[in-house]
Amino acid sequence: MNSNPDPHSSFPRHVAIIMDGNGRWARRRLMPRLEGHRHGAKSVRRAVEFCRRNGIEFLTLYAFSTENWQRPPSEVSGLMKLLSQFIDSELDEIHANDIRLRTIGQLDRLPASVVEKIRTAVEKTSKNKAMVLNIALSYGGRQDIVNAALKITQELKSGALEASAVTEEIFSKYLDTAGMPDPDLLIRTGGEMRLSNFLSWQSAYSELYFSAVLWPDFDDNEFMAAIQEFRSRQRRFGMISEQIEAGERAY
Ligand code: IPE
Ligand code: IPE
Ligand code: MG
Repeated sequence: MNSNPDPHSSFPRHVAIIMDGNGRWARRRLMPRLEGHRHGAKSVRRAVEFCRRNGIEFLTLYAFSTENWQRPPSEVSGLMKLLSQFIDSELDEIHANDIRLRTIGQLDRLPASVVEKIRTAVEKTSKNKAMVLNIALSYGGRQDIVNAALKITQELKSGALEASAVTEEIFSKYLDTAGMPDPDLLIRTGGEMRLSNFLSWQSAYSELYFSAVLWPDFDDNEFMAAIQEFRSRQRRFGMISEQIEAGERAY
C-alpha cells in the first residue's frame, strides 16, 4: 500500500485533541447532552487504542476546561460521573497495555472522590512505558502559564533560580506538561476553529487540524485522515524549505 519502508516514520510523537461536539451530536438525535458525552467516552477509548496501535507516544485529551465549570451544574456533575466510570471501566486495560495515565490542570477542583480515583490510577500506571495518556481536567492554557510564572517567581525569591537562567526551555519545565514534548499535531473536532484555552504555550508550533466531525463520530478513519494531512505538511519552524530538506532542525 505504501512504499515507505517504515510506515510510522512520520507519525506524530504527540497528538493533542480538543474533543468537541458531544452536545450537538446528542441534540441532533433529540437526546440529552449527557448522552453525547457518554458516546464521546467510546471515542476516547477508540482514540487511545489507535494511538497505542500506531506507536504514538503521547496523547493529550481536552476533557474539561476551566471555562467548562460555567456549564449547568447537572452537566458538570454528569461529566464528573462519566469520568469516574471511565476510570473504573478502562483502567485495567490501560494498565495491561503499558499505558501511563497523567493529568494536567487543576485536579483539586474536581470532586474529592474523583480526585482520589484519578490519583490512584496515575500512581498505578506510573511505571508504564509504551504510551502516555494525558487527560486535561479543569485545564486552562493561560492558567498553566500563570501558575508556571508564580512558581518561577518563588524560586527567584528563594534564590533557587536566577533570572538570567529563565529560558523558554526552563520555563516549560514549570508547566503542567513538564517532561512531555510539545504536541506535533493538535486536532479539534466539532467544526469550531479555535483553541479554547488549550495548551496555549505548548501549541506554539503544533500543526492544527480541524475536523467537522462531531467527537462521538470521530473514528479510526477520521484519525488516519488527520495523520495523513499532518504527514503532508512541511514543518518549517521559521526556516525555509531548502533548509528543512537539507535536514536542519529548529529544535
Ligand atoms: C465537548 O463537547 C465536551 C466537553 C466540553 C466536556 P461539547 O459538550 O462542548 O459539545 P458541543 O460543542 O456543545 O456540541
Ligand atoms: C473545549 O470545548 C473544551 C473541551 C473540549 C473540553 P468547548 O465546547 O468548551 O469550547 P467553546 O466554549 O465552544 O470554545
Ligand atoms: Mg463545545
